[in-house]
Formats: sequence, structure tokens, C-alpha cells
Amino acid sequence: MKIVVTGGAGFIGGNFIHYYLSAHPEDQVICIDKLTYAGNLSTLASVMDNPNFRFVRMDICDRDNVFALFEEERPDAVINFAAESHVDRSIDNPGIFLQTNIIGTATLMDACRAFGNVRYHQVSTDEVYGDLPLDRPDLLFTENTPIHTSSPYSSSKAGADLLVQAYHRTYGLPVTISRCSNNYGPYHFPEKLIPLMIVNCLYDKPLPVYGEGLNVRDWLYVEDHCKAIDLIVRKGRIGEVYNVGGHNEMRNIDIVKLIIRELGKSEDLITYVTDRKGHDLRYAIDPTKIHEELGWLPETCFEEGIKKTIKWYLENRSWWEEIINGEYQNYYEKMYNNR
Ligand code: NAD
Ligand code: DAU
Repeated sequence: MKIVVTGGAGFIGGNFIHYYLSAHPEDQVICIDKLTYAGNLSTLASVMDNPNFRFVRMDICDRDNVFALFEEERPDAVINFAAESHVDRSIDNPGIFLQTNIIGTATLMDACRAFGNVRYHQVSTDEVYGDLPLDRPDLLFTENTPIHTSSPYSSSKAGADLLVQAYHRTYGLPVTISRCSNNYGPYHFPEKLIPLMIVNCLYDKPLPVYGEGLNVRDWLYVEDHCKAIDLIVRKGRIGEVYNVGGHNEMRNIDIVKLIIRELGKSEDLITYVTDRKGHDLRYAIDPTKIHEELGWLPETCFEEGIKKTIKWYLENRSWWEEIINGEYQNYYEKMYNNR
């Protein structure tokens, strides 16, 4: 099989490429990535020489070049990870989120239609369901929960998700969609909660907790997400949506305290800052469908996964130091100074 993976220089796409090339050494992978601030070629350094891997720097919105690549490569499947992915950046500047997340998705699906009705998988998110109340632990997101978004990011992902369903119904494009909860693990860009707290702890810098730190996220080790996507692409029912999550809800403040303990630092580093606008209270995924239909279950529990993640950041300082010594400093100042 020959697959196109978009956004493969980012966090989940990069982990997916590493997983996929070792799980399916006979397959070919073509990665399309624009290399935005979130894309890092160093994430893919160890596979660059693999004869079954090709990297192409390209914007998924660049119709002419996307079509030319499809004509040249004639892929069997496309897995779309490419996106603007950070909620805080979307609050600051929504435009690029609409462009990449919606127009980019449509462009890729148009190319799929033009070159043989290529199998298409959309990496969506649980954020399309909006949020759940903190005092109703019995409520979980199922695939039938209405789409009801909060941020420009989640709205752009919901727009893309709906477009994928429209391309299936209108044109018969063979699609699947996965809606996953929060991922963590290696190669996670340090603007996101877990890597940001690890990196700041290592520098004894303040740990900026939004609001009171009581918001809840449902964490999944990134490799478990990659395995779920692989399974959906191979065995999922066409036209279906699959929720992906491991029943691992945690309050932000508890995550931060756990990282502090693991790194032997002081809770005095915790600094409560102004809350995120429109901050979703709680996410919680019901993964019954993917378990019952495809046999998927998460393999890495949070206690093990967070230890592996912290160890990875300790052993791969050059990967993240290169990031935080660059443009990231301006971002950090703008986002956190005087907050
Ligand atoms: P990321 O920000 O780490 O990586 C995104 C990648 O996409 C980067 O390599 C970037 O260069 C590339 N990219 C951005 N715009 C592009 C464009 N126009 N053309 C080509 N490439 C472009 O994101 P991530 O956390 O790895 O998320 C990957 C996908 O998974 C996203 O679609 C996101 O919505 C979804 N998702 C993420 C999570 C999570 O917890 N991180 C959970 C569920 C779903
Ligand atoms: O649920 C899936 C989503 O998870 C994905 O679709 C997104 O792409 C991904 O970024 C993630 O979104 P979140 O907004 O949940 O992740 P983030 O790491 O930005 O924040 C997690 C929680 O931590 C959230 O409640 C906000 C809080 N937070 C975050 C940062 C960066 C803080 O308290 N302080 C911080 O500095």
C-alpha cells in the first residue's frame, strides 16, 4: 500500500510515521508537510533515508502542487493530520485555522476524487463535541453527541469534519473519521500543556496554570492513537466516525503536580494565570464503538506513559531546546507575559 500522510513533521503525524514504517515495512509513505512553526524535520530524521519514505514540503491548500503530487504518486490512501492545532493561537488569529483546517481538507479530498476515489481518513478531534459539565461524570462524548464547538480551532476542525461527511454522501468518497481525546508523548510541541510544564520545570520557570486548574482533559498516549488510526484505515467501515480515547480523565492541576513530583521540583513554581477565553471545562470520550467493532484498546496506561514521556524529554533536550530558543520565545512572551 502507498499512503500519503499530511502533517507528518508534527507531533501525532510524526509518531504515526515512525509507528507505521515499523509496523508495515512493505508499505510506502509519502509525507506532505508545510513545515509551519509546529513542523520539525528533526522529528523525521531517522526515517529520511528509508527507501519507502519520501518527504515533500508542501501546503495542503496548494491545489496545483497537491494535484501534481497525486498524479505522480497515485496513492492508495490519504491520512490527514495536517492542521493548525493550538487553541490559544486560534483565539489570537483564527484566519489561518480556517484556511488550513477547512480549505486544506477540501483540497486533499478533491485530489482524492480526481485520482481514483482514493481512500481518505480525517484525523478529527473530540473538541468538535464542545465540552461537558464538571459535575456530571456520567456524561461522555459518543459518536452521536451533537457537534457544538467553543473555539475558532474546534470550529475549524468541525467544519472539516462535516465536509468529510459531505464528500462521502455527495460524491461517494470512501472516508473515515477519528475523533480522539488529548494526546501526549514524544515530539509534542512545547506550547501544549504537558511538554510546556516539563520544559518549564526543567528550567525552574513558573508553571502557568489557566484559571484554577480544574478543567479536565482525557489523556491518551500518542502511540495508542496511531494504532487506532491504522486499524480504522484498514478495517473501519466506510463513512463511519470512530471516537478514540482511554477513559483517563485528569484535572490540569493534577497533571502539573504529577510532573513536578516526577522531576523533583517544588509546587511553588505553580502560577495561576488568567483563564483561556471560552475555556472548555471537560472532555471525556466513550470509545465503545472502536473497541467493539475493531477490537482497539489502549495499551499504555497514564502512569507508564507520562514516565516514558518525561524520560523522552530528558533524553532529547536538543529536539526541544532548538524549538524554545527560536521564534517560540516571542510566542511565549506574547502569550504569558503579564497574563
Ligand atoms: P501539530 O501542530 O503538532 O502538527 C501539525 C503539523 O501540520 C505540523 O507539522 C505542521 O507543519 C503541519 N501543517 C500545518 N499547516 C499545514 C499546511 N497548510 N499544509 C501542510 N502541513 C501543514 O499537531 P498535532 O498535535 O500533531 O495534531 C495532528 C492532528 O491531530 C490535527 O489535525 C489535530 O487537530 C488532531 N488532533 C490532535 C490531538 C492532540 O492532542 N494533539 C488530539 C486529537 C486530534
Ligand atoms: O482534545 C483534543 C485536543 O487537545 C486537540 O484537538 C488539540 O489540537 C490539542 O491542542 C489539545 O487541546 P487542549 O486545548 O485541550 O490542549 P492544551 O495542551 O492547549 O491545554 C490542555 C489544558 O491545559 C487546557 O485545559 C488548557 C490548560 N493549559 C494549557 C496551557 C498551554 C494551562 O493551564 N496552561 C497552559 O500553559
